[in-house]
Amino acid sequence: MKHACVIGWPVEHSRSPLLHGYWLKKYGIDGTYTKRAVAPEAVAGFLQSLRANGYVGCNVTVPHKAAAFSAADEREDSAKAVSAANTLWLSDGKLVAANTDTYGYMTNLSQQAPGWDRRDAPVSILGAGGAARAIVFGFLDAGVSEIRVFNRTRARAETLAQQFGSCVKVFDWSQREAGSRDSAVLVNTTTIGMNGAGTLDLDLAGFDPECVVSDIVYVPLETELLRKAKSQGLRTVDGVGMLLHQGVPGFEKWFGVRPEVTDELRNLIVGDIEGG
Ligand code: ATR
Repeated sequence: MKHACVIGWPVEHSRSPLLHGYWLKKYGIDGTYTKRAVAPEAVAGFLQSLRANGYVGCNVTVPHKAAAFSAADEREDSAKAVSAANTLWLSDGKLVAANTDTYGYMTNLSQQAPGWDRRDAPVSILGAGGAARAIVFGFLDAGVSEIRVFNRTRARAETLAQQFGSCVKVFDWSQREAGSRDSAVLVNTTTIGMNGAGTLDLDLAGFDPECVVSDIVYVPLETELLRKAKSQGLRTVDGVGMLLHQGVPGFEKWFGVRPEVTDELRNLIVGDIEGG
C-alpha cells in the first residue's frame, strides 16, 4: 500500500485529504493520504526520513514551502521559479520538489475562461508573495508580454520583477484600479477577502468588458471581488479550481494515475467549504 500526506503547521484546515481521498476511492487505489502536523523545527528531519516513515511523497503547506524547497535533492523549474515547493516525491531514492500552483492556476484559468489570451493585453496581479510568483511564472510561460504587479509593499514587487525580467512592470498599490482597467486578466493573489476579512477597495466599473477577474482566495467561494466583477458582467474564475488542479501532478507521481478534475469533485470540495 502507498502512503502520502500533507504536512503543515497547523494542518487541520487542509482540504487536500478530501481531494486525494476522493481520487483514491474513485480509481480503486490501495493507498492513503493523511494530514501530518509537523512543527517548523521538525520539518527537515521529517522530510529526510520521508521514505523511512513509509511515504512515497507529500504535499507541503504553510509555513513549510521554503523548507521543503531546501530539503529536496532535485528541484523542478516550477519550484525554482518560486523558491518554494508544495509537492514532493521520491524518485530513485531522491527527494524531488515541484510547485504545482502554477500548473493549477493556469489549467483552471484556461478551463474556466477559455480565450482569456485572445486579446494582446496585459495581465494585472495584485500581491507579490509566493502565490504571485507562481502565477507570474505561469503567465510568462503562456507568452504574456506585459505583467503588471501591484503590491502594498512596493519593494517586494520590485524583487519579483528583478527575478522575472522586463515583461514584469511594478506599480504602486494605489494604482491598482486605474492601472489594470485594460487587462486581459486581473488576479487577486493577496489574502484580502479571505474568510471575509478586509476589502480590496477596487471599483471595476471602467474595466474592459473582456477582462477576466480571478481570485485565488476560495473561502468564501465568491469573494467580494468576484461578486463585484459578476455584477459588472465580467467573467470570473474562483479559487477552488486552482486548489483542485494543483493536486493532479502530485497524485500522479505518488499513485501512478493522472486523476481527473470533475464537477462531482468540485461539488464535494465546495460543499466542504460552504459547510465551514
Ligand atoms: P503567499 O505566499 O501565499 O502569496 P504572502 O507571501 O504572505 O502569501 O503574501 C501575501 C500577499 O498579500 C502580499 O502581497 C501582501 O502584501 P505585502 O507584500 O505588502 O505584505 C498582501 N496583503 C496581505 N494583506 C494585505 C492588505 N491588507 N492590503 C494589501 N495587501 C495585503
